[in-house]
Amino acid sequence: MLAAPADVRARLLAWYRSHRRDLPWRAVRDPYAIWVSEIMLQQTRVETVIPYYERFLSRWPTVGDLAAADPDDVRAAWSGLGYYRRAKLMMDAAKAVVDEHAGRFPDDLEALLALPGFGRYTAGAVASIAFDAPAPAVDGNVARVLARLAGIRGDITRGSPQRAVWDLAETLAPGESPREHTQALIELGALVCGARRPKCLLCPVSDACVAHAEGLTAVVPEPRKKPARRSVELTALLWCTSGQVLLAKQGDDGLFAGLWTPPMLEGALTADEARREVARHRDWRANGAEDMGTMKHVLTHRDLHVRLVRLIGDLPAVSPPYRRAPLSALETLGLPSLAVKALRKGLRPEDLSELALPGRRTSRRS
Ligand code: ADE
Repeated sequence: MLAAPADVRARLLAWYRSHRRDLPWRAVRDPYAIWVSEIMLQQTRVETVIPYYERFLSRWPTVGDLAAADPDDVRAAWSGLGYYRRAKLMMDAAKAVVDEHAGRFPDDLEALLALPGFGRYTAGAVASIAFDAPAPAVDGNVARVLARLAGIRGDITRGSPQRAVWDLAETLAPGESPREHTQALIELGALVCGARRPKCLLCPVSDACVAHAEGLTAVVPEPRKKPARRSVELTALLWCTSGQVLLAKQGDDGLFAGLWTPPMLEGALTADEARREVARHRDWRANGAEDMGTMKHVLTHRDLHVRLVRLIGDLPAVSPPYRRAPLSALETLGLPSLAVKALRKGLRPEDLSELALPGRRTSRRS
């Protein structure tokens, strides 16, 4: 950094006060609401989050309400935001706040860090934004801003470059209005110091920025190596009769933790293979099976290639983790978008006459 920390901090704060976006979580101080916003904003764009945030808070206005909520309802409210483990961890943390802190969020960093799902970023964001504590909070955007300011080379997601970024965040944290300071760094990363084409002409601290001075904004931070993508082949079973469809609840640790999807088999099976497979393993007897084509579904680290097989005949009697769900009730189950796509593409119009599925496309990754 080419200027004194206090000077950089003051300029960031002044810039934030005149350029900040009016976002719903910026109008509140309630740590619960701020925490909900921060969890939703991880990996998800602001515009996507806003309606989810508003619906979530009107349904569960306090941490006590969330702690007492039905997990299926919370998962359904999360549907379309992706990264479903976040919803489960939120319920665990809400229960911990109720059980261990009498329903009030603790205001110190150590106690926040001890809550389920609270990493250094989330704890720092809640401590600073809700409690105005001088705690550093470094997410991907903030790390980029700080790495450029100080010209930190190397991979800032690990090792000494990561430590250097956090050290700088720590240096800048104390001072006037930590709650605005944290959001100033976030906002600069979102509006000016973007990953690809930073708008250095508009930046309040460009003259203090090492990467700008040395013409290195394209290589600082070091562009991330793309994680290797894996291709996964699956076969989804679409089985629907008399307005009811067969669904399976996915295990808590998988890709669609705790969500309802059509039953899925590993591998790309033909219609006949799929029919034989379910007869062998589940004793479900279909009168016929029909190949309905394939669909691709892109997740962060995986490309799913899903064969769609429509089973024909009366639905079998099933027990958990399977269920027969009325088509008219699918919306309330909060299906992930993979399931919605599979049902739309893998069933026939006559199956779907009673279908009420969300028509919206809300998320990049879900
Ligand atoms: N991303 C993470 N936290 C945020 C916040 N408080 N405002 C806008 N974007 C964010």
